Amino acid sequence: MEFKEALAFRHACKVFDEYKIIEEDDFSAILEAGRLAPSSFGLEHWEFEIIRDKELRAKIRKACWDQIQITSASELIVIYAKIADLDPKSDYVKSSFARKTHHDAAAIEAYTNAFAGFFARFKDERDVYGWSKAQCFLAAQNMMMQAAILGIDSCAIEGYIESELNEVLGIDPSKKRVAMLLPFGYRIKEQSPQIRQSLHDIVRYR
Ligand SMILES: Cc1cc2nc3c(=O)[nH]c(=O)nc-3n(C[C@H](O)[C@H](O)[C@H](O)COP(=O)(O)O)c2cc1C
Repeated sequence: MEFKEALAFRHACKVFDEYKIIEEDDFSAILEAGRLAPSSFGLEHWEFEIIRDKELRAKIRKACWDQIQITSASELIVIYAKIADLDPKSDYVKSSFARKTHHDAAAIEAYTNAFAGFFARFKDERDVYGWSKAQCFLAAQNMMMQAAILGIDSCAIEGYIESELNEVLGIDPSKKRVAMLLPFGYRIKEQSPQIRQSLHDIVRYR
């Protein structure tokens, strides 16, 4: 499918056909599209957890406003936004910059200093979460578009009660937080119309 057709195909799928399973190769391509997303300072702020356990899915659904996508999807990815790892002094940041610079000590130092200056703008963990989550959304969009190109439906899900979800998933929110849940599968209902403002309403030139 061409990119333009995929844009028209992608919509927030509300119910998936629970008997139609995504092929492993297609799902790998979706994950790979997430992996290759761009990110601020190249820090790859995300972690992807694939939830296949049915009982866990049912618990997650309860914390997600009982949305049926969670249990009807063929695959469910929880995208986590890193928090603690993004501290400029963390081992994660050090190893990311080392990888990026092919272990060039001077380049690592330059990156680390620039990043520490940038990071100083964040007042608290909430700011860090906002920044981290924004990068995760880029990965999510890559995954949704790759899925659409393969004829696979998706639905970004932010409708959840975070404290309940954290408990179900057993995560410590000072280390990482849920950015989005991303179910994938095949639609059983007609696609909803894409209702958008016109370019005239949203584009300005100077
Ligand atoms: C960050 C984000 C969170 C969303 N959360 C939900 C959700 O919890 N449940 C849902 O059904 N749709 C959710 N949506 C889907 C939007 O409602 C949908 O993308 C929007 O209405 C446009 O419709 P379309 O995607 O079908 O074109 C979410 C979309 C985004 C980008």
